[in-house]
Amino acid sequence: MEPDGVMAKDLFKPGEGLTYDDLIIMPGFIEFAPADVSLTTRVSRNIAVRRPLVSSPMDTVTEDRMAIALALAGGLGIIHYNNTVEEQVKLVRRVKRFENGMITDPVVLSPNRTIADLKRIKKEQGFSGIPITEDGTLNSKLVGIVTNRDIDFEAVDTKPLREVMSTDLLTAKKGVTLEQCNELMRKSKRGKLPVIDDKGRLVALTSRRDLLKNRDFPEASKDKNSQLLCGAAVSTKPQDRDRIGALAEAGVNVFVIDSAQGWSSYQIETIAYLKKTWPAIDVIAGNVVTARQAGALIDAGCDGLRVGMGPGSICTTQEMMAVGRGQGTAVFHVSAAAAKHGIPVIADGGISLIGHIAKALALGASAVMCGSLFAGASESPGEYFYREGVRLKRYRGMASIEAMKSGGGKRYFTEATQKVQIPQGVSGAVPDRGSVHDLVAYLSEGLRLALQDMGYRDIPSLHKATQKGELRFERRSHSAQREGAVHDLHSYVDPQLGQKSEL
Ligand code: IMP
Repeated sequence: MEPDGVMAKDLFKPGEGLTYDDLIIMPGFIEFAPADVSLTTRVSRNIAVRRPLVSSPMDTVTEDRMAIALALAGGLGIIHYNNTVEEQVKLVRRVKRFENGMITDPVVLSPNRTIADLKRIKKEQGFSGIPITEDGTLNSKLVGIVTNRDIDFEAVDTKPLREVMSTDLLTAKKGVTLEQCNELMRKSKRGKLPVIDDKGRLVALTSRRDLLKNRDFPEASKDKNSQLLCGAAVSTKPQDRDRIGALAEAGVNVFVIDSAQGWSSYQIETIAYLKKTWPAIDVIAGNVVTARQAGALIDAGCDGLRVGMGPGSICTTQEMMAVGRGQGTAVFHVSAAAAKHGIPVIADGGISLIGHIAKALALGASAVMCGSLFAGASESPGEYFYREGVRLKRYRGMASIEAMKSGGGKRYFTEATQKVQIPQGVSGAVPDRGSVHDLVAYLSEGLRLALQDMGYRDIPSLHKATQKGELRFERRSHSAQREGAVHDLHSYVDPQLGQKSEL
C-alpha cells in the first residue's frame, strides 16, 4: 500500500518557510521498546555524545556549572564569551578539571582573615571546613583548615583564623582516586580532605558529604583523557585571536564561531585560521539557514554547522533585519546539504518542547541547541526570583540592549561602543525547570518514546529514513495545530513545568 504523508523534500515547497509546529510526522511500525532507542549522536565531525543536547553560548545560559552538568548528563555546553578572555578561560578550565566528587575551585582563606569572615561564608554558601593557604588562594601552600569544631566556642569574631585553624593536616596527594579519598576520610573520620601537589600547594578538596551523595554518570561526555567535553564561543574579530589561543591552551574541545549570519568573509577566514592553527580542535560554524551558506562554510573546512536565524525565543532578528528562515525549512535544507559531506548540523533556537527536538532530528539535525529551555535550570547563571508566585530566572538575548551594554552583541557585527545600537533580541524571564540532570532525563525519555513512535532505534537510521523518503511528513493546518495542542479547557497543569496554565 502507498504510504501516507509525503517525503520531507516534497513538504518543503519552494518559496515557503515552515517551522516545527507546521509539520507532523507519520507513525512508524514499532518492534522495540523505548529503552532500545539510542540517542548517541555527533555534534561535530569528531565529537560524539550520548544525548543530542547542546546549551547556547549565552550569558544567562552557559557558564561552568551548566557545562559540567550537561556534559555529565551526556550533552555539551558551550561557554559564552560575553566576558574577558581570563573569565572565559577560567570557566573552561573548571569544566576540564572537573572531577566528580573533587571540588577543584574550593573557597579558600588566608590565615589573616577572621572568624567573622568564615561565619559570613558559612551563612552565604552553607558550608564549613575551609582550607587555609598562605596567601588565601588555590595553588598556594596549604597551612591549615578551619572547621566548625575550631570555632564553636570562640567568642571573639575578630580573632584571626591563624589562631584557631587546625594544623595537624591529613591530606591526599594530587592524582589520588576518589575511592582512596573515601577510604582516608572513613578511617580518619574527617569531613574534608585537602588534596595537595608535591610542593604542598592546595589543588582540590574532597568532602565526605559530597562523596556520600556522589552519583555515577555513565552517559557523561568525555574526551580521550576522561575529562568532560567543553565548547566555547569565539568571534571572527581579529582581536579575538588571543582568546582563541588561550581557550585552546585551556583544553577546549570545540570552538563555536558565534555569528547570527555566518556567510561572511570574516567567518571563512576565521575557520581557515582555526583549522590551520588548532587542527585537533573541532570548529562549529554558523549560523546558516541555506544550503549555499552551508556549502561555503563546509568548503572553508568547518566540522559542524549551527542552523537558525530568527527562531530563538528572545530573538527579533527576522522582524528587525527582514532576514532569516522558518526553522523547519532551514534545518531540512542545510542538513540535506551537509549530510553529503558528513558534517553534523545543530538545530539552534525555537525549541520549547520534546516534539520540537524530535522534529529537528527527523529533519536531519544531529543535535539541538537550547537557550530558554536550559536558562531556567538551577545550573544556569543567575538567581531565581518570584513574580506573581512563579519561580523564575532572568534570560536575555545576546543582542538585547541589556546584554550589548555589558559587552554582548559580538555575533551581530555591532560594537559595544557604537553610538546607535540596534537590538535583535529582548530580555525576559523563564520558569524554573529544576536541575539539568532531571531535565535531560525527562527530555531523553521523551525522545526515546518519540523515536519509537516514528519506528526508528537511533538518530542515524532516522536520518537515513528522511533522506530516502521513508519517513513521511504532513503539513498541519492551523486548526490541526490547535487540535494537536491542549484545547477547550478552562485551565490545566503544564506537564513540563508542573504549573497551572490558562488557555
Ligand atoms: P531559544 O532556545 O529559543 O531560547 O534560542 C536560543 C538561541 O537564540 C541561541 O542559541 C542563539 O542562536 C539565538 N540568540 C541568542 N541571543 C539572541 C538575540 O539577542 N537575538 C537573536 N537570537 C539570539
